Order: sequence, then structure tokens, then C-alpha cells
Amino acid sequence: MDLMDAIKGRRSIRKYKPDPVPEEVLRTLMDAVRWTPSWANTQCWEVIIVKDPAMKSALANTLTRTNPSLSSMTEAPLVVVLCGRKGVSGFKKGEATTVKGDWLMFDIGLAMQSLCLVAHSLGLGTVIVGNFDHQRVAEILSVPQNIDVVAMTPLGYPAAEGSAPKRKEPSGFIFYEKYPGKQ
Ligand SMILES: Cc1cc2nc3c(=O)[nH]c(=O)nc-3n(C[C@H](O)[C@H](O)[C@H](O)COP(=O)(O)O)c2cc1C
Repeated sequence: MDLMDAIKGRRSIRKYKPDPVPEEVLRTLMDAVRWTPSWANTQCWEVIIVKDPAMKSALANTLTRTNPSLSSMTEAPLVVVLCGRKGVSGFKKGEATTVKGDWLMFDIGLAMQSLCLVAHSLGLGTVIVGNFDHQRVAEILSVPQNIDVVAMTPLGYPAAEGSAPKRKEPSGFIFYEKYPGKQ
């Protein structure tokens, strides 16, 4: 699949078939995470793959009732939880290198995009879920304090395609030479 087609064609998938994801496919997706760029190649990501129905239910219960991805958490054959090791990305000898502090959100975001795009190119669906009770997920999955739970995605074969939400026009976010407004 052409990369631009993958970027434009990937949608958030919220309806899944129960068909399992082959281990070989899962390995390919983890390889996509593995080859993601990261701050000074620090690779702070840690991935938890959840297949157990009771565990998926427990994770689903950390979403609010109004989260549009609620049912996909149990419908999909598995859920991938992306976590980041704290104090690694953006740090040198234990000190933050920039005013941004920990860059783990950035690196985990890149890893998630790698996973979602490759999943899409292999006919699988994903939906990034960020709005949930992170503390509760950490407890459910026994994630230690030095690891930050960032986002999760159900993963499986789409039962229905998502429709593409409208995007801003390029003129709405691209500026030349300087940020507009202040001359
Ligand atoms: C950081 C992040 C968090 C998100 N959290 C949720 C969420 O909690 N629930 C949900 O249904 N979708 C969530 N989404 C999916 C977005 O709503 C979706 O990507 C956006 O509407 C664009 O649609 P598309 O993915 O089909 O292009 C999240 C996306 C991102 C990048």
C-alpha cells in the first residue's frame, strides 16, 4: 500500500469482527513499533497485549460510558496498551534536556501511529483511545510507577468502516516565514 494512501485511508475503527489476529501479524505490528524513531533512540515504549475477555472488560470499564470506543474494547479480539518508561526520552544523565521535560508522550504517539498505519495496511482496524482512567488501567495491568500508561487501541478486523471526519484546509494551519498576527 502506498504510504499516502495508508495515511489518508486509515480510519478510527469502532466495530470489530471476533476473528483472531494471527501471531505473525501481531509480530509485524510490534516490529513497526520497534522501528519507530525515538529521542536519541531511547525506545521508551513498553507494550501490553491483552486478549483475555475479563481483562478487556476491566479495561473497557475505565472508559466513560460516553466514549465512542467503549464497545470496541470488548468486541475486538485484543487490546494493545502502549506505555512509556518515564525519565528516558528527552533526558541526558537524568536531567531533562529541553523545557518540554519528558518526551515520552511524543515517542509513544509516534509508535502508536506506526502501529495504526501498518495495521491498516494489513487490513486491520485500530482506534487510538486516550480518554480513560489511566491510574485504574495501571492498577489492572500491574504497571509499576516508573512506567506511564499512555494510550490503548482495540485491534482486529473491521466489521464496519469508519467515515472520515473533515480535516482543516492546509491554509488553516500552514504559515510561511512567521506565525501570523503579530507583525
Ligand atoms: C491522542 C488521541 C486520543 C484519542 N482518544 C479517543 C478516545 O478516547 N475515544 C475515541 O473513540 N477516539 C479517540 N481518538 C480517535 C479520534 O477521535 C480520531 O482519530 C479522530 O476523530 C480522527 O478520525 P480518524 O482517526 O478516523 O481519522 C483519539 C485519537 C488520538 C490521536
